Amino acid sequence: MQETNANMDRKSLIEKASRLSVAPMMDWTDRHCRYLHRLMSRDALLYTEMVTAPALVRGGALHLLEHDPAEHPVALQLGGSDPAELARAARLGAGAGYDEINLNCGCPSDRVQSGTFGAVLMMSPDLVAECCAAMIAAVDVEVTVKCRIGVDAQEPREVLPAFLETVAAAGVRRVAIHARKAWLQGLSPKENRDIPPLDYPLVQEMKRAFPALHVSINGGIGSLDEAEAHLAQGLDGVMVGRAAYHDPAALLLQADRRIFGRTAAPRSAEAVVHDMLPYIERHLAAGGKLGQVTRHMLGLFTGRPGARAWRRQLSEGAHRPGAGPELVEAALAHVADMGRAAAE
Ligand SMILES: Cc1cc2nc3c(=O)[nH]c(=O)nc-3n(C[C@H](O)[C@H](O)[C@H](O)COP(=O)(O)O)c2cc1C
Repeated sequence: MQETNANMDRKSLIEKASRLSVAPMMDWTDRHCRYLHRLMSRDALLYTEMVTAPALVRGGALHLLEHDPAEHPVALQLGGSDPAELARAARLGAGAGYDEINLNCGCPSDRVQSGTFGAVLMMSPDLVAECCAAMIAAVDVEVTVKCRIGVDAQEPREVLPAFLETVAAAGVRRVAIHARKAWLQGLSPKENRDIPPLDYPLVQEMKRAFPALHVSINGGIGSLDEAEAHLAQGLDGVMVGRAAYHDPAALLLQADRRIFGRTAAPRSAEAVVHDMLPYIERHLAAGGKLGQVTRHMLGLFTGRPGARAWRRQLSEGAHRPGAGPELVEAALAHVADMGRAAAE
């Protein structure tokens, strides 16, 4: 696709945003979660859950692309391994307004393996390159890759540079590397996020070996201190998954100031809850359920007095018939009481 100035601006904005990103997480980073995260950080890059190209192209599941305009900058993660189908899915994603299309080469789940996408693609760099080239030709937003350092018996120090060289030659300029292998035999997807050891030095080496490639590191990063340390070591970006989901206040409320150099005072978790109320009302008015939104808010007060009561009130109350924003307000008032009591 022909580069226009507007595209170049968009690409540089999203590259800046990818200094800190919230990882794609199935069933977690849905549109409600991303709306919440966006209220907590203006600048961080947000990723969708993986959407498979067959679901979009063959299944016509275009509702999977729905998102709120407030979510930008937001990237769509695709799963697939058929270049033509991925190109069509990427076009649908870019047409829906996503700022980036990311190809999943890291997810080890059985369902995904059976469709030949995800981490198993680490074994087929030429096919990944073909897929990326097809998507790059199809859309004018940036096409990126999220990968592991290798799978099964592969030797990461050999296969990862070869993989990156191949996808970079296809035109990919930005990658996120989950710094551990995926073991496709014998481990559950959950175990595959914890058991294969992390190799951060290898990801740093890749940045040195491919200085023109924008490299984000992912895996086991639990705080902004750790994120800053990775950036200080020369990595271009840090992608955080579980920690951002479970403790979004710690990861996201200070991110704009600490990672993106903004000077405005960080918002409070309480202010974020208040800002979620109109969103919740809109969601309910459109026929949605309270729990679909509040389940992503359970971790908002992690580590603070009242956190457990907040969690309990929301998780027990949200599914009662007729539950609405007043449940959230009552739970928030309870957190405030507990905070005052703890301060006395
Ligand atoms: C519930 C859950 C779902 C995930 N779904 C995806 C996914 O759809 N696509 C993907 O590339 N990675 C997925 N991942 C992996 C994360 O993106 C990330 O690589 C991994 O959790 C390691 O980062 P962390 O230690 O910061 O959580 C998922 C992780 C979790 C916990």
